[in-house]
Amino acid sequence: MTHLGTLAMLAAASAFLAGAAPPALAQQSAGDPAAGRRVAEVWCANCHVIGPGASGPASDVVPSFPSVAQRASTTDMSLRVFLRTPHANMPDFQLSRAELDDIVAYILSLKRR
Ligand code: HEC
Repeated sequence: MTHLGTLAMLAAASAFLAGAAPPALAQQSAGDPAAGRRVAEVWCANCHVIGPGASGPASDVVPSFPSVAQRASTTDMSLRVFLRTPHANMPDFQLSRAELDDIVAYILSLKRR
């Protein structure tokens, strides 16, 4: 998928969520970063480097979680939209609401302050 395609899709999905989502979604994630890291180790570490110093697949196709966290465009909302949208090269996860909260909290916790 092209980056532009992803952006267009994110924009469309954001517009949809903005209309349909309960107000809580707009707030910072209520998830638990430590639990999110455990979810990431099980579901994401096959393809992603999931943390600083974590060993994992070296690839320029799959962004590491610290590099995703560092992007200015990465927010609570952008991660939620991405993880609920089917992707060409990523399995379509059926994460529970709590797992989604946790994993979003974990990725955002990697942002350097
Ligand atoms: C089968 C391999 C695979 C697995 C497993 C996987 N991913 Fe990915 N992921 C990818 C690939 C490939 C990309 C880059 C291509 C794309 O953006 O569609 C990506 C991109 C991403 C991005 C960056 C989107 C952006 O803005 O560029 C995030 C965030 C992400 N994955 C989160 C996760 C999380 C969270 C999990 C675990 C629940 C996970 N991924 C599991 C392959 C995988």
